[in-house]
Amino acid sequence: MDLAEFFAILYDFALFMVMAIVYLVESLILMFIPRRYRSKDLREEIALVTGAAGGIGRLIAIKLANRGCQVIVWDINKIGLEETAKIIQDAGGKCWAYHCDITDKDEVYKTAKLVKLEVGNVTILVNNAGYVYGRTLLDIPDDEIERTFKVNIISHYWITKSFLQEMMRENHGHIVTIASVAGLLGTYNCTDYSATKFASIGYHESLFTELKAHGYDGINTTLICPYFIDTGMFNGVKPRLKSMLQPEYVASEVVAAIATNEIFVVLPGIIKYLLPLKFLLPPKLCWILMYHILQGPQTMMMLKNREEKIK
Ligand SMILES: NC(=O)c1ccc[n+]([C@@H]2O[C@H](COP(=O)([O-])OP(=O)(O)OC[C@H]3O[C@@H](n4cnc5c(N)ncnc54)[C@H](O)[C@@H]3O)[C@@H](O)[C@H]2O)c1
Repeated sequence: MDLAEFFAILYDFALFMVMAIVYLVESLILMFIPRRYRSKDLREEIALVTGAAGGIGRLIAIKLANRGCQVIVWDINKIGLEETAKIIQDAGGKCWAYHCDITDKDEVYKTAKLVKLEVGNVTILVNNAGYVYGRTLLDIPDDEIERTFKVNIISHYWITKSFLQEMMRENHGHIVTIASVAGLLGTYNCTDYSATKFASIGYHESLFTELKAHGYDGINTTLICPYFIDTGMFNGVKPRLKSMLQPEYVASEVVAAIATNEIFVVLPGIIKYLLPLKFLLPPKLCWILMYHILQGPQTMMMLKNREEKIK
């Protein structure tokens, strides 16, 4: 290593130490300032929420509209989609509903074009639509595995690519990925679902890195990893130590995270502090914790799969 390189490394370390102090103090101060005082104005934004015919997607769309966003909702469920649009419009908000099967790349590109023509450029994109089949590996039909991957991760490429160029041109936008705690910790009955959520976290973090590295400081990204939510997606599951989260709470946290440009949110927050145990404890002890204390696998055995839910 020559002297110039040595001093460059020294300089970068000194810079890191200074920024560490700045950002640690900043996050301490922010803890005492209520979120409403540090929220950005969303009134000029055009938000697209996928999977908004029900569940947390609908609630996120309603809450974004309440904050003054023009809202576009996509889903395959036509009836639920129309209901969401009506709820928003009856409350005086602006909402456009598009039937779009996000597993179909051509349909995504076609619908995105229509959105730009009829509404305008999307500035907040919430990749929320999700799908779970819910069986152990050998019991998941091949087409269900493919469907889970197409909905939960592959679609993110087509949807984000459809709107990112305009965000880059204006250096203005926000991309939100609704992942899951199952994307931080693999679990029973979820070889497909968990894998797609791990993938969505990798996808999201890589996109964050690319935008940062190329100086797009006006495009924010938010990654949300919720624990079970009581929407029906994980019907039948009764977690042992912590009951399911309420959809209203999760949607409020998602919208608050968008408004305050939060980068990484785990719901509930306590899980963020427990996750490092996965790396710190011996793996055999982790299994004891998972199986005997949390009873994660036993809990997930109660999951009703798609066919059982439809019955
Ligand atoms: N419910 C939970 O316990 C939980 C926990 C963590 C993360 N999540 C994630 O939160 C997000 C929302 O889940 P939810 O609980 O509201 O579930 P939900 O089933 O109520 O909503 C998912 C929506 O996605 C739509 N969708 C499915 N396939 C689609 C397709 N091909 N094209 C367009 N839309 C499609 C569905 O019609 C539905 O309206 C998902 O990404 C899910 O993985 C859910």
